[in-house]
Amino acid sequence: MKNTIKILIAAVVMICVVSCKKDSKPNYQFMPNMYEPLSYETYGEYGIFPGGQEAMLPAEGSIPRGWMPYDFENSQEGYLLAKDTLKNPIRYTKENEDAGKALYDIYCAICHGAKGDGKGPLVKREKILGVPSYNDIGRAITEGSIYHVMYYGINSMGSYASQTNEHERWQIVQYVEKLKADLEGNVHRLDIDPAMTKGVVIKEDHAPVEKGHELTEEQNNAH
Ligand code: HEC
Repeated sequence: MKNTIKILIAAVVMICVVSCKKDSKPNYQFMPNMYEPLSYETYGEYGIFPGGQEAMLPAEGSIPRGWMPYDFENSQEGYLLAKDTLKNPIRYTKENEDAGKALYDIYCAICHGAKGDGKGPLVKREKILGVPSYNDIGRAITEGSIYHVMYYGINSMGSYASQTNEHERWQIVQYVEKLKADLEGNVHRLDIDPAMTKGVVIKEDHAPVEKGHELTEEQNNAH
């Protein structure tokens, strides 16, 4: 009899505990400060912030890490100023040229063609019109103008500022200049490390030649 009462009491207590659970409310929290931070939750809604949102836009004029401001405006004046004054800050090495080629083949060749003659696959299939050749005399592109149009885009060509970083854009500029020189039949620019060129003459194909194998008169005239 005594045991039956005990079992009954235990059962009633357990039923009480279980029946107190409400699915619509959070259950009892033993260490609430582990769940509820004192700081504001990322993307939380709080009246104290402008717009009621914890997530705010960066202050005006702030510059993300690793990003450099670009001083030329997205206008005709900005374009002309960049065309005349903006210079490529990287050295024209073979490595940069190769990196530029790889990026160019990804982003630009589809319209401009692997040779830069404006005859990429999309042009051949007549999906896009008006893609110029890089040696177009009327445009007379420069390192500054190439960078500028990649940064902002130009007419039906989009901007590449979000797909590429500053260094990569300048590598593409170097490669576009090479394509332009090739189209014009000119020798393209390559900066040789001064430390490497001691006692070495530079041949036209840019392979260093040992001193002593001097260029012949004829070869010299070809330069
Ligand atoms: C979707 C096709 C397309 C792609 C991709 C494209 N371009 Fe263009 N590009 C154009 C068109 C079209 C024009 C002519 C725009 C105009 O002036 O009307 C142009 C013009 C240019 C010019 C000449 C601008 C001037 O100063 O007159 C350069 C330089 C150039 N593109 C470089 C690039 C580079 C570098 C890339 C890759 C990062 C690229 N383009 C990717 C379509 C494209």
